[in-house]
Parts: sequence; C-alpha cells; structure tokens
Amino acid sequence: MKDNDNMTSDWAFETQAIRTGSIRSGEGEHSEAIYLTSSFAYESAAQAQAVFAGDQEGNVYSRYTNPSVKMFEDRMAALEGGEMACASSSGMAAILGMCMGLLQAGDHVICSCSVFGTTFTIFAKYLHKFGVKTTFVDFTDYNQWREAVRPETRLLFLETPSNPRGDVVDLEVMAGIAHGNNPHNSKAWLMVDNCFCTPALQQPLKLGADIVVHSATKYIDGQGRCMGGVAVGKAELIKEMHLWQRAAGACLSPFNAWNFYKGLETLSLRMEAHCRNTMALAEWLDKHPAVEAVHYSGLPSHPGYELAKRQQKGFGGVLAFEVRGGRKEAWTVIDRLQIMSRTANLGDTRTTITHPATTTHCRLSDEDKARSGITENLVRIAVGLENIDDLKRDLERGLGQLLRSR
Ligand SMILES: Cc1ncc(COP(=O)(O)O)c(C=O)c1O
Repeated sequence: MKDNDNMTSDWAFETQAIRTGSIRSGEGEHSEAIYLTSSFAYESAAQAQAVFAGDQEGNVYSRYTNPSVKMFEDRMAALEGGEMACASSSGMAAILGMCMGLLQAGDHVICSCSVFGTTFTIFAKYLHKFGVKTTFVDFTDYNQWREAVRPETRLLFLETPSNPRGDVVDLEVMAGIAHGNNPHNSKAWLMVDNCFCTPALQQPLKLGADIVVHSATKYIDGQGRCMGGVAVGKAELIKEMHLWQRAAGACLSPFNAWNFYKGLETLSLRMEAHCRNTMALAEWLDKHPAVEAVHYSGLPSHPGYELAKRQQKGFGGVLAFEVRGGRKEAWTVIDRLQIMSRTANLGDTRTTITHPATTTHCRLSDEDKARSGITENLVRIAVGLENIDDLKRDLERGLGQLLRSR
C-alpha cells in the first residue's frame, strides 16, 4: 500500500525527501520496512502467470524489482525531477548500466577529462573494447565539446563541480551543445554525474540534462556505510538501463536501498551543514600563511564562483588547497592530523583527506595531472559535520609545523 499516491507533486524538496515513495506493508509500520527477500510468492498459478507475463503488477524476483529498491528509486526520481529512476549496486554500475542500455558499437561519446578515474576507465577501456569510441575534452572549454561532436555522437558525459578543484560548467549551455548546437546538428544525450552536489544543491534535469547519475555511496548514504548508485531521467531512457540490469544483475541490495532512502530524509540538512563547514574552512585556509591557494567555488576568487552561485543552491562539501612547498609539505599536513580520516571516500559525516597526486589520481600521466591541476602540493578535503573549530585545530597541527620549520 502506498502512503502518498498522487500527493507529492506540490510538496517541497524537504517533504518529498521524507515522504515520497513510502510503501506500507499492511502491518502499520511507521518507518519503512526492509523487504529482504530474493523472490515473491503468489496466491495461485494463474496469478503467477499474470505477473510473469506483465499482465498484472507485481514483483517476480529481486534482480528485477524489489519494494525497498522501488521506494528509493521513486524518492530519487521525485528529488531530481525525473520520470523514472533505476538503482544499481554502485555508482559505477549506474554509469555502465546507462551506457549498456543506450549505446551500441559504432556510437561515439564525448567525456570531460575531469571525471572520476574509474569513469574514465569505463569509457577509455571497456566501452572502447566493444566499439564505442570516446573523445576526452577539457571540462570547461565549450568549443572543445562543440568541435568534438560527430554525426555518430550519442552521449556527452560530465561531472560538475569537478573533483578535486571544483570547476563548474553551465549545464544549459552543455544541454544546448548535446541537443543540436554543434557543427553537425547532431542530437545526443547529456548525462551528468551529480554526486558532488546531490539534488539538494543542483538539479541537472531541470537545466536540460537527459540523465543524472549518482554514486549513492557518498552523500545519499551520508555515513559511509553502503555501496550503491542510481540513474534518473525520462522513462524511455531509464527503462533501457532497467532492462539491461535485469539481465546483467548489477541490482541494489534492499538493505542498502533502505539505508539510502533513510539517508535522503536528512539530505537537505546535511548538505547545508557540509556547505557551511566547507565555506568556513575555505575562508580560514585562504588566509593561512602556509597555504598557497584554495580551490573552492564558494570563494569569489574561484573562476566558477558566479556560475556556481547561479546554478547551485550551495557550493558543496569538497575543497582543495595547495600548501606552500611540494609533496613533503602536503604529506606533513596529512600525517599530523588526529581527527580527519586519511581516506578517499567522501560525503560522510566524518571529514576525509587525500593527496590526489599519489592516491585518487595516481594513475594519470604527468601530462594529464598537469592538465587537471593535480600538483604535488595539492590536498583535497571532503568536509564532514564535525565542529568547525576542531577541524581548523586539526589542520593547524601540520600547517603550523610547516611555518615553524621554515
Ligand atoms: C563523482 C563520482 N562518480 C562516481 C563514483 C563511483 O561510485 P561508486 O564508488 O559508488 O561506484 C565516484 C566514487 O568515488 C565518484 O566520486
């Protein structure tokens, strides 16, 4: 039984994040149940036949559909403003699933070179193996995107803001390029990885994107517990991923889906707090004598500041900064921390810190590192929800040491 059929369209984001998509089992539970079952049973052979044939609505097997997963999908579709969502076992499975559903040999993709490393691998190595060719372009250079379009281009893929330096692109301009404003008047889909902003801060579908993908592992979970992903968009596109996934089996576990839709209930509040803490830390680092530069689109000095202010409801929870010096100085700051976790995940209540050049971006060539601004003195922080003064004191352990040893 659905709690809220036909009631959701005029609800605000926060209400939808808590209420949309809930299904009650008939036991009257207030918090949603977890439907931890692999298959579903029927009253009769005739009912089984009708459900299997698709003549009657119902579940067959959790690789196809599951009520907990459906609750998460319906809530995500509402929050992103899409017709349909398809959840998956990880963020990468969502990206791959959309590509497998929509693309075929001979198709061409254009991808930003500032994407998550494994996304790069999917396009450059695995899709390439099956005859889908990808051109990588500089993220913020609209002319490169336009000029890379070919008659057989089917997909443009990007993340905004980019990791780790927080560069931003105008999604309306990108949707224009994808939908025909290019030398061949080719029509392609624009797919946006909205993992860094979440729908609480940015809704790419409303700006013209065709598909939004997420690593739900990040802010949607919010506490660093579960792996998962989701794609949202027009039903005719998302259905293709769903059909592929029914066959390929990269489905989301009902337990993880439950964590995610409970995570969505606090998403707006958490994103507000992540943004507040990150801005405070960026401003503090910007004035610190041991810091050479801070990269956060919330600072007016950042090249993406005006666009991020217009396109996003907040500047997000990730910043990068360059210490004065090189790798040794960056590692000193990281090694002296007592609170922040030295780990690459993000979107957690706990602040995490990385040295991109030797971890998340270590496989890039020196040339690609230089192109993406991944210098040896660069440090990335995904700011959590701890007290901001504790976080500043934690960083000061290493930054102060650098000043004393000069
Ligand atoms: C922006 C972005 N997209 C996609 C992914 C992949 O997500 P997952 O690890 O859930 O497969 C990540 C993971 O870090 C990411 O940061």
